[in-house]
Amino acid sequence: MTLDDQAIAILRGNDRGGFTIPTRGLYPYQWNWDSAFVALGFAAFDRPRAWAEVTTVLEGQWPDGMVPSILFRRDDPDYFPGPRRWGANLGPIPSTGVSQPPVLSTAVRLLAGEDDADRLDNIFDKLLAWHNWYHTARTFDGVIATVHPWETGRDNCPDWNIGLDAMEVAPDLAPYERMDNKHVDASFRPSQAQYDRYLTIIQAGQQVGWDQARLTTEGPFLMADPNINFVLLRADRDLFTLAERLGRDQTVRNKIQGWIAKGEAASDRLWNDQLGGYAARDLHSGRFSDGFTNASALCFYAGVGAPEQRARTLQNIRRIGERVQYMLPSWDPDAQDFEPQRYWCGPIWPQMNFMIAMGLREQGEAQLADRMQSDLTRLIEASGFWECFNPVTGAGCVGSDFSWTAAMWLAWLSPSWLTRVA
Ligand code: GLC
Repeated sequence: MTLDDQAIAILRGNDRGGFTIPTRGLYPYQWNWDSAFVALGFAAFDRPRAWAEVTTVLEGQWPDGMVPSILFRRDDPDYFPGPRRWGANLGPIPSTGVSQPPVLSTAVRLLAGEDDADRLDNIFDKLLAWHNWYHTARTFDGVIATVHPWETGRDNCPDWNIGLDAMEVAPDLAPYERMDNKHVDASFRPSQAQYDRYLTIIQAGQQVGWDQARLTTEGPFLMADPNINFVLLRADRDLFTLAERLGRDQTVRNKIQGWIAKGEAASDRLWNDQLGGYAARDLHSGRFSDGFTNASALCFYAGVGAPEQRARTLQNIRRIGERVQYMLPSWDPDAQDFEPQRYWCGPIWPQMNFMIAMGLREQGEAQLADRMQSDLTRLIEASGFWECFNPVTGAGCVGSDFSWTAAMWLAWLSPSWLTRVA
């Protein structure tokens, strides 16, 4: 089978009828930002199916506008923490009580062709409500905040240690049994101490009845993530384009423009001058994380940064490029805690390379963009469609037959594919 055929077979195999699971076993539900990337993959060979992925992820939207990170359409006892542990039933489908990076509007913009006006019209207000939720319930002091590392999509990055170390584990934390370590090698996965804290935040969400504004201001964890901030800023720009395309009124356009201005202004709050890069920051203490991550490199994708900030960011990317075989690791190889095979502590993530390369190319850094693209191509050719990859050895990590990796192949990497969206 060619890699194109394998990628299609993976997406078809992970299709559960209008929505796609990331991989069998480890992740048996629909994940929010996974679906945005997966839609781009389907678009290369089945456009109606691509739109179905967009529609189904929005089906789980809460009345307050939040689109949850996971939709638990039916309980799967093989996954923990599932719907009962979250106890987050404010939406039409049982779900988690946190969101994920809002890539969807950007994916929709890439997807939408001339004859998709009706489809766009059907979902525009939902996208707008979701962005609005980020700009209200999840905004703290002008910056988009995150209340749980799992909301960032970069679940176990050392970036979150500052916030996690500063919080207490709930003394009455209900006992639990992890399932993730049953599916994959424990050396890939988060530690027990971290897991206790992840579950403490979930308990705090329940205690405020999943009132998201309260969870933001009163919860035990409050950090700002360059991934969410930059993905949202980009998505706001794309939503604005969609609003223009649909001829939405001036009030809507002004609102989105206000969000864009806010996002641009907030970016400096994430600038760690000592590191010479954008970094995660604890919003209670003001402390910065001190590692350069693949999310730091998304400033190009978001279109932010003064010339000096961009130059220093590029210096960091080049420094790291000399330290690893494959670009761009999820955690700084020169920082403490670099572990090339552990979840978000080093591995390369296909969907991150895609966004980073898109931004670099748009901002005139074609050579580095080419490297992000060709490194991922080499990884998939050598190792297959893994969830993520060891940047030093190129070995595949965590889940295999992975949907977003297959999708990135079809939408972006495949040399033979003519209908690529990106
Ligand atoms: C892991 C990743 C997250 C992803 C999910 C499903 O939790 O950290 O970003 O959405 O798996 O693939």
